[in-house]
Amino acid sequence: MAGETDRLIIAPSLLAADFTRLGAETLAVEQAGADWLHLDVMDGHFVPNISFGPLIVKALRPLTGMPLDVHLMIAPVDPYIAAFAEAGADHISVHPESGPHLHRTLQLIRSLGKKSGVVLNPATPVESIAHVLDLVDIVMVMTVNPGFGGQAFIASQLAKIAALRRMIDETGRDIFLQADGGITPSTARQVLAAGANALIAGTAIFGKPDYDAAIADLRAAAPAARPDVALSLG
Ligand code: DX5
Ligand code: ZN
Repeated sequence: MAGETDRLIIAPSLLAADFTRLGAETLAVEQAGADWLHLDVMDGHFVPNISFGPLIVKALRPLTGMPLDVHLMIAPVDPYIAAFAEAGADHISVHPESGPHLHRTLQLIRSLGKKSGVVLNPATPVESIAHVLDLVDIVMVMTVNPGFGGQAFIASQLAKIAALRRMIDETGRDIFLQADGGITPSTARQVLAAGANALIAGTAIFGKPDYDAAIADLRAAAPAARPDVALSLG
């Protein structure tokens, strides 16, 4: 039976959308075939930028059927997790550096009935999640430093994606492996070849005039890289 991670996931990052029209932008990418909506929450402390909080998640929740993939770049993170869960997040992903007890944070996310994710910064080693993988539904590799859209892809992260692919396969569990930052059709091919199965893209979708074409261009990166992913698209 096909697992839920067999299908290539495309998650547009709302950070690159037109903030005067967040609802319309959300519906536009949903209509264009996006799988999840990626929401980047930044506090000006954990990362050098400030974006938005649970109010935006709550406002978008009733508009869309897409799972809301919330990426928390805030510290401390634990005091805010319940608020994002209540606002309607489906996935809550955290950085190991955003609190003293990653295991406890993941337990908290799971206890609220949400999919739990861990995000690795470019310098964060894969070992940081080796002993919590049983509590993880999503592993996200930052292919830029977190904080801003539109940055250049960091190619050194491809080896990390490949190492995580091996670790995930060893668990035998359905764990999403996302790449976040600097994703274009060309870098998408590289991260998919390394073993990612979910692409987060801000500029490469919202920065284009035609969202259908932009998402199709990212999906087209899959067949050459991972025949198994391509087959399941049909
Ligand atoms: C950066 C965010 C990313 C960002 C990606 O901190 O986590 O999700 O929005 O933007 P692009 O695709 O433009 O690199
Ligand atoms: Zn993100």
